[in-house]
Amino acid sequence: MTKRIRKAVFPVAGLGTRFLPATKAQPKEMLPIIDKPLIQFAVEEALAAGITHLILVIGRTKRAIADHFDANPELDLLLRSKGRSDMADYLANIVPKGACTIYLRQAEALGLGHAVACAAPLVDPDEHFAVLLADDLMDGERPILAQMVDSWADNPRSLLAVEEVAADAVSSYGIVDCEAPEPGASLPIRGIVEKPSPEDAPSRLAVVGRYILDGAIMEKLQNTAPGRGGEIQLTDAILQLSHEKQVDAFRFRGRRYDCGSKIGYIEATLDFSVRHPEIGTEARRLIARACKDQ
Ligand code: UTP
Repeated sequence: MTKRIRKAVFPVAGLGTRFLPATKAQPKEMLPIIDKPLIQFAVEEALAAGITHLILVIGRTKRAIADHFDANPELDLLLRSKGRSDMADYLANIVPKGACTIYLRQAEALGLGHAVACAAPLVDPDEHFAVLLADDLMDGERPILAQMVDSWADNPRSLLAVEEVAADAVSSYGIVDCEAPEPGASLPIRGIVEKPSPEDAPSRLAVVGRYILDGAIMEKLQNTAPGRGGEIQLTDAILQLSHEKQVDAFRFRGRRYDCGSKIGYIEATLDFSVRHPEIGTEARRLIARACKDQ
């Protein structure tokens, strides 16, 4: 096995029902935080971790994602003619030379596990690959996937990014059975359960949308029956994998915004706007005014 992770899978074929009507005809992952779509944050995080093969599992309404990462010659010409070559260069290099995008269709939204399994023909059983859920926006001094790849390079194994959540929030996540690792460190999991009730939760460590997985997960996924919610659950396949191979919970250093929920999306928008170089000062003033007016 090479000591490098080259491939990342981005499952972006969910229906995004919590953001309807905004997501009726456009993907949730194209929702912007100020001026950058969520999927671009995730792609940049993967590139910063050394990923070169960006595998996007798209669904019916997701053509905008492929368009976003494609060249747009008319726009390029227009920007250059208006003296905005810096923006034209920026857009042309979102996916730099040396990296490539590969698009697969998930014909039906049968669950996150099913979406990851769509990439099975592109992943060798003996290679590790990354999975990034773009609706989890991650923010760390060192990008979160790069932290995980650093840890993996020292000891190649499957890694699940985890964070501690409130007791009443465990039923929204996959929860690992594991002691709490120190920030920046990992510990092997004993088990994992999807959306447990607070009484049944083995811990308060929730799996968030960054994974490094052993390619053997693909075979597990293909043999995973629909689980909670009638969906093929990645969590169920990870549990199977953990019976045979080491799977660690990795406690990342940084912050996660759950942009699949309205309130997490607003939180990210507020935090990113107040530190935005162009609009930060004005954003602070507007936020203070909005609070005062209530
Ligand atoms: P979510 O659980 O957030 O589901 O998926 P969703 O459909 O996107 O959104 P809601 O709950 O209806 O609002 C977590 C991740 O898994 C992907 C989603 O795109 C998201 O990145 N996913 C989910 C798929 O790619 N395919 C699926 O069948 C389900």
